[in-house]
Amino acid sequence: MAPVRLAIIGGGLIGSRHARLTVGEDQCELAAIADPAPAGEALAAEMGVAWFADYDEMLGVVEPDGVVVATPNQMHLPAAVACAERGAHILMEKPIAHSLDAGRDLVRAVNRAGVRLTVGHHRRFDPAAGAAKAIIDGGEIGDLLAVSATWAVRKPAAYFGVKWRRETGGGVVLINLIHDMDMLRHLCGEIATVYGELGHGARGLAVEDTAALVIRFKSGALATVAITDAAPSPWGWEMATGENPGIPATGRNCYRFMGSKGSLDFPNIELWRHGDDGAGDWSQAILRQGRPLSPRAALADQLKHFCRLIRGEEPPRISGEDGLASLAATAAVLRSFEIGAPVAPAFTL
Ligand SMILES: NC(=O)c1ccc[n+]([C@@H]2O[C@H](COP(=O)([O-])OP(=O)(O)OC[C@H]3O[C@@H](n4cnc5c(N)ncnc54)[C@H](O)[C@@H]3O)[C@@H](O)[C@H]2O)c1
Repeated sequence: MAPVRLAIIGGGLIGSRHARLTVGEDQCELAAIADPAPAGEALAAEMGVAWFADYDEMLGVVEPDGVVVATPNQMHLPAAVACAERGAHILMEKPIAHSLDAGRDLVRAVNRAGVRLTVGHHRRFDPAAGAAKAIIDGGEIGDLLAVSATWAVRKPAAYFGVKWRRETGGGVVLINLIHDMDMLRHLCGEIATVYGELGHGARGLAVEDTAALVIRFKSGALATVAITDAAPSPWGWEMATGENPGIPATGRNCYRFMGSKGSLDFPNIELWRHGDDGAGDWSQAILRQGRPLSPRAALADQLKHFCRLIRGEEPPRISGEDGLASLAATAAVLRSFEIGAPVAPAFTL
């Protein structure tokens, strides 16, 4: 089977990780990197592939089968439109776009052109996501009642040296919380309402650094989420899983799912129940049961999926509509803060 030919638009923090994975993956080959920055040119040289400052030119010259788009959020729409018009399939980094209108236009352009699109909510490829979904959907913790989720890190000051990360749409909500909203939607079902408060005090930038929210799921389950990019802590997906080589692992759980028959620590997948049948109450010992997980390789597994998607072997795991739903849930947090009331996430296609 011939490897699919991929290109990368945007070779920054995450684009460079995609580039390295692409070079090491048998199902694909890296044909080019488009990124006007000197670091993008250096990355292309390091990978031994063609470099273009302009992605339109790259698409015309290289004609890749598929493109990983890893530009700043505000550029996702124009880059996707260019790919779609050239017939290239798309792995679009999350969020699908910087606004719901842009996301809708992106999905329309992709559908019009008949190319395939998947959105880079790669955490769903982690084995803990599959295990937790099987446990919750299989009724092992009974009816889901409540969830407590935390993501807290202190990003280095240099991270905010990049202009788009200081501007509206580049804050902790659209960059980081969207991962948690996507995972919560994946594991708990659709969101009925979300009420959010934002904090901007840690750095005094236009973008928020902290958020606290209350979510009501359509199932009736409730969740609280606390997130900040300005507080050192061991609790958050990257520290829990060690998936990002740039962020040292702690192995600490960061979500707790509480059901009528038991509870689940996530993402280490530790089930807490009074007995296997889920009966019993606080007067009895609560027993911890671990579950083995296969090795973690979410970004690499997402790339393999993209190759199969390009070859038409499977549908997108995270479709454009799914990506829009996660963006709508996240945008509802910002809107809720503006109006001071809960918001029902909504989007049109
Ligand atoms: N899935 C994840 O875990 C994850 C992690 C980080 C970032 N992201 C997402 O990936 C995207 C990029 O984030 P990042 O942190 O890598 O940002 P970054 O600023 O490190 O990289 C963005 C790159 O895009 C390049 N760029 C800017 N304009 C361009 C253009 N017109 N054409 C081509 N390249 C252009 C920049 O030069 C830069 O190298 C964002 O959408 C972000 O939300 C996802």
